[in-house]
Amino acid sequence: MKVAVFISGRGTNLQALIDVCAQEDTPAEIGLVVSNRPAAQGLARASAAGIPTVVVDHKTYDDRESFDAALDTAVTRAGCDFICLAGFMRILTEDFTRKWRDRMLNIHPSLIPAFPGLNCHARAIEAGVMISGCTVHFARPELDAGPVIAQAAVPVLPDDDEEALAARILEAEHRIYPMALKLIAQGRIRIVNERVRIQDGSMADGMLVNPAKS
Ligand code: GRF
Repeated sequence: MKVAVFISGRGTNLQALIDVCAQEDTPAEIGLVVSNRPAAQGLARASAAGIPTVVVDHKTYDDRESFDAALDTAVTRAGCDFICLAGFMRILTEDFTRKWRDRMLNIHPSLIPAFPGLNCHARAIEAGVMISGCTVHFARPELDAGPVIAQAAVPVLPDDDEEALAARILEAEHRIYPMALKLIAQGRIRIVNERVRIQDGSMADGMLVNPAKS
């Protein structure tokens, strides 16, 4: 399995994916890192790991269709057959999402379907929820939606601000994203009726990691 990772920024999830692909029991390699921002820090992480990078700057394209076509060309040229969105801050077209259906993962820092989209930590705090978390899911045309592979529950503490909650959730992201990619690389994931089944998994559907402590 040859994976393209799409980033827009710091790339800590990218790093977690790089690290898991270095493990012997993960039959996957990262063949390309794509950033829509030339200054994304994650590009340096890729280079340090010897992974080719390409910048596809959305600002230089007239519309989403031509931007997505450039992304597709980059991924295909690199010989990648799978995509991981890792903090990639662009909405993809339906065509692109359809082409990569069941071959594209996303991570979102909430327990979807709660709080999809931007500012999810602020909205979780504002809503007064006591548990939030993160989700790895197959990408669908709808934003932050699709069959769930893994979720981690993370407590929202009374004094949390956005930054504190984001940092606590990020640690959980770094656990579940590599885990999900490894399961896929090992051929242990199937989608049945838009729900994830894990072969030899401990649960019938998806995985729940690190439930929040009471
Ligand atoms: C993560 O919280 C990811 O879930 C969100 O954006 C952040 C990216 O962080 N969509 P990083 O670039 O992986 O460090």
